[in-house]
Amino acid sequence: MLVSGGGSNLAALLAAHGDPAYGARVVGVVSDTADAGGLTVARDAGVATAVVAPSDFADRAAWDAALAEAVRVFGPSLVVSAGFMRILGAPFLDRFGGRFGGRVINTHPALLPSFPGAHGVRDALAHGVKVTGCTVHLVDAGVDTGPIIAQRAVEVAADDDEASLHERIKTVERALLVDVVGRIARGGLVVDGRRARLLG
Ligand code: GAR
Repeated sequence: MLVSGGGSNLAALLAAHGDPAYGARVVGVVSDTADAGGLTVARDAGVATAVVAPSDFADRAAWDAALAEAVRVFGPSLVVSAGFMRILGAPFLDRFGGRFGGRVINTHPALLPSFPGAHGVRDALAHGVKVTGCTVHLVDAGVDTGPIIAQRAVEVAADDDEASLHERIKTVERALLVDVVGRIARGGLVVDGRRARLLG
C-alpha cells in the first residue's frame, strides 16, 4: 500500500484484513515521506514499512526505480495507492502492470473524470457541485485517468467547507476501498478498454 497522509484508508483495510474470509492482506506500506501518519498506523498493526523520499534521489527516474524496488520486496499481487500524493511513473507502472495487468489502483476523493489531481474536494466545492463522491480506479500514466472500478456519491451540504466535505467523503471512501480490494482479491477484475468489472 502507498500512503503519504494519515492513513485512514489503510486503517480500514487493516481492520478488514484480519478476517481470512476477506481474502486480502496488507503485506507492506511504502510512503514518500517519513512524516506520514499511515506509517505509524502500519507499524502499530505489525505491518512492515519503507520510506522512499524524492529528496534522497538525484532525479525522478531514480526515485521511481527505488519506489518500485521497495514495493517489489513485499511481493504484492495488488498495489493500492491511498492518499499517495505523487504521480507513479512509467517504470513503476510497467513493473506492476498498471498499464497492462491492472495491478495498481488508486482512491480519489471526487467522482472522476471530474476534479482529478491533488485538490479534488476543494475543486468540486469551488465549482459548486451539489453531488461529489469518491472513485477507485486503475492507475495509468495520466493523473487520475485510468479505468474506473467503482464510485460512490456524497451530497454537498450548503455549509460544507473542504474539511467537512472531505471527512464525509472519506467515510464513504474507506468502505468503498475495503469492498473493492476484497472483491478483487476474492473474484478478480476484468478490464476491457476503459471498462473495468469486478468479478468478486
Ligand atoms: C483520501 O481522501 C484520498 O482519496 C486522498 O487523500 C485522502 C487520504 O486519506 N487522495 C488524493 O486526494 C489523491 N489525489 P488517508 O491518508 O486518511 O487514507
